[in-house]
Amino acid sequence: MSAETDAPIVTIRALGDHVGQEVTLQGWCYAKTGKGKLVFLQLRDGTGICQAVVFRGNVSDEDFEVAKAITQESSLIVRGVVKAEPRAPGVPGGYEVDVRGVETTGISDPYPIQPKEHGVEFLMQHRHLWLRSNRQWAAMRVRAVIVRAIRDWLDDHGYLNVDTPIITPAAAEGTTTLFEIDYHGEPAYLAQTGQLYNEANIFAFGKVYCFGPTFRAEKSKTRRHLQEFWMVEPEIAFCDLEQLMEVEEQFVSYIVQRCLAECAPELEVLERDTSFLQRVTPPFPRIHYDEAVAMINAAAARGDLVPGYPDPVPAIEWGDDFGSPHETYIAAQFEKPVFVHHYPTQVKAFYMEPEPGRPEVCRSVDLLAPEGYGEITGGSERMSDASKLIAAIEHHKLPMAPYEWYIDLRRYGSVVHSGFGLGVERTVAWVCGLDHVRETIAFPRMLTTMRP
Ligand code: 4AD
Ligand code: MG
Repeated sequence: MSAETDAPIVTIRALGDHVGQEVTLQGWCYAKTGKGKLVFLQLRDGTGICQAVVFRGNVSDEDFEVAKAITQESSLIVRGVVKAEPRAPGVPGGYEVDVRGVETTGISDPYPIQPKEHGVEFLMQHRHLWLRSNRQWAAMRVRAVIVRAIRDWLDDHGYLNVDTPIITPAAAEGTTTLFEIDYHGEPAYLAQTGQLYNEANIFAFGKVYCFGPTFRAEKSKTRRHLQEFWMVEPEIAFCDLEQLMEVEEQFVSYIVQRCLAECAPELEVLERDTSFLQRVTPPFPRIHYDEAVAMINAAAARGDLVPGYPDPVPAIEWGDDFGSPHETYIAAQFEKPVFVHHYPTQVKAFYMEPEPGRPEVCRSVDLLAPEGYGEITGGSERMSDASKLIAAIEHHKLPMAPYEWYIDLRRYGSVVHSGFGLGVERTVAWVCGLDHVRETIAFPRMLTTMRP
C-alpha cells in the first residue's frame, strides 16, 4: 500500500464511531465485483462485513491493480474514509469505506466454498472454512453472547463457579451413553454431567454452577444430539422444585433478552423471526406430566398434526418418556417456553426425589422451548435422604462403592436441594432458529463425524 499513514486500525463493528475519518481495516475479501474504474470489495474482519469501494481516481495505479487481482478470501489491509450510507450493504450495514490504499497479505487459492448452494456433507467436511460464512459466523457470535449471559446472570446472583471433573469413575445419567477411557489400567468415563460433584459443592458454597463440555455416546442420529456438548449446571441448597422453576425462568429469560439486545445484526443475518423470543419473560407456563399426557392423547384422538412433522401426534402410554413429536406438540400449545414437571420416576435418573405420597412420579422438570426446539433444560429436586438414595442406587443396579461419597452428602447435614442443566447448543439452535445442532458449535462431534 502506498504511503504509510497513521489511520487507526478499527473494526467494522465500530465504523459508526469513525464517520468522516480515515481508518485502517484488516480482514478478508468475502466477495468482489466491479467494472471499469471501480472495484467493490465485501470486506469481513470477524466483527462484521462492509463494502469497501476502490475507485481508480482515489488510489495509486499500483493499488488499483492489487484490488483487481484480489480473490475471494484473500487477506487484506484496507485504508479509507468511512462514509455513512444508509443503504450500504453489510453487517451491521449502513457504512461504507472509500478506499485510499489496499494491500494483500495472502492471496487466496480458488476457494472451495462458493456463493452457490453446497450440500451439508461437503460443508461439514470444510467446517474449518465454512465457519467464515456469514450464517455460521452469526451463530458462533450469538453462542458467545449466550455464554457471556449465562456467566453474568449466575455471577450476579450469588452462584459460585466451581468446575467439576471431566474424568469420572461412575455414571450419573444412565450407563448407555458412557464414553469409556483407560485411566492407568482402571476404567473411567468422560463426564455426562457435573451434577453429583455440584451437589457436594453446595454444602461448601450454597449456590454453585459448573460450566463445561460434557460427553454422551448417543447412539442415535438426531438434530438435537451431539456427542460432546456444553452444559451449564446451577445447583442450589435449600431449594425445592417450585423455587427451581422460578430460577430457571429468570435465567432463561435473561439469556434470550441479552441476545435480542446485543445480537440484532447476527439475528438478521440468520433471518430469525424474533417475535417468539421477545415473549420470553417470566413467568413460564407449568404443566404436570399427567396433563401433558392427556393433551397429547386428546390431540392424537383428534388426529391433530405436529407442527413441522408429516404425521399426526402419536398417542403415548402413561409412564413413557416423550419423543420429539410429543415435545414439539406440547411446546406449540404455548407462546413461551413451558415447564413439564413430575415425570414418571421410571424414565428419569436415580437421584431424583420422588413425590411424597405418589412415588411413581418424581420432582423433576424439563423446560421445552417453543417452535420445535425441544428440551433445553433438565433438572430436579434431588433425593435428600440417605436410605432412599441407597434403595434407588440398588434399584437402578448401579454399584454402591463409587457412590459412597455421594451418599455421605445425605449423612452430614442434608438439605432439600435442586439444580438443572441447560444445554448450550440447543439454546443456540433455538435463539438462532437453526434446525440442527451441528451449526451451533464450531467443531461439532456427531455420531458419524469427528473431523475436522
Ligand atoms: O436432561 P439432562 O440429561 O440433565 C442432566 O444432565 C442433569 N444432570 C442436569 C442437572 O440437573 N444438573 O441434560 C440437560 C440438558 C438437556 O436439557 C439438553 O439441553 C442438553 O443438556 N443435552 C444435550 N445437548 C446436546 N446433545 C446431547 N446429547 C444432549 N444431552 C443433553
Ligand atoms: Mg433431560
